[in-house]
Amino acid sequence: MQKDLGDYRKSYEKSALMEDSISDNPMELFQKWFYETEASDGVDEPNAMTVSTVGLDGFPKSRVVLLKKFTHEGFIFYTNYNSEKGRAIAANPNVCVSFFWPNMERQIIIKGKAERIPENLSDGYFESRPDGSKLGAIVSEQSSVIESREELEDKLKNLEVEYQDKEITRPEHWGGYIVKPISIEFWQGRPNRLHDRIRYSLIDELDWKMERLAP
Ligand SMILES: Cc1cc2nc3c(=O)[nH]c(=O)nc-3n(C[C@H](O)[C@H](O)[C@H](O)COP(=O)(O)O)c2cc1C
Repeated sequence: MQKDLGDYRKSYEKSALMEDSISDNPMELFQKWFYETEASDGVDEPNAMTVSTVGLDGFPKSRVVLLKKFTHEGFIFYTNYNSEKGRAIAANPNVCVSFFWPNMERQIIIKGKAERIPENLSDGYFESRPDGSKLGAIVSEQSSVIESREELEDKLKNLEVEYQDKEITRPEHWGGYIVKPISIEFWQGRPNRLHDRIRYSLIDELDWKMERLAP
């Protein structure tokens, strides 16, 4: 089987990224781009981001998760701490997070360190989820091999009975990570492949160095 995609070509012309019109702080630029993507209505889930970890097998692995909050401190997502990504982060907290918003012709690549958020914050978010999602988090031993779909559905049915009149509390193995950035790179597509790339690198707790990279 083969398919040649050499003719796939697109010219990027929507916007520009110039040093004199952007904030010194990358989190502020992230917020601006996020709001613009949201408002554009051209991306189904603007908060879907790719998180890459370095696995215990030495291979990088990427997967999509949902960004649930961002602050000046970093980017928060929720998952199973015993999953493949959870085990990878426990051994090596260095991660890469990226966003691609095709309609905006924009990409953001974040390198940072992932750490568990405080338990009370995970409790608070877990509490806000619908019951079905709460039970799903309990049922699924994320990333482990299972016999069949049936096994999963049977487990869920049993839990639905067990929790009929009981409060569903957050299981210990499920919670949030915050990715605290050390570098954030913004990519804006431009004509003739002369794209704009601006990278911010953390110098100390508050100061960022801004540099333009060749496309
Ligand atoms: C749009 C989308 C959103 C997802 N959101 C999450 C999420 O927020 N948390 C999560 O653990 N997995 C989420 N997943 C599933 C992950 O991509 C992945 O399958 C799962 O986390 C197991 O990854 P791991 O085995 O590498 O740990 C999402 C998948 C997609 C496609």
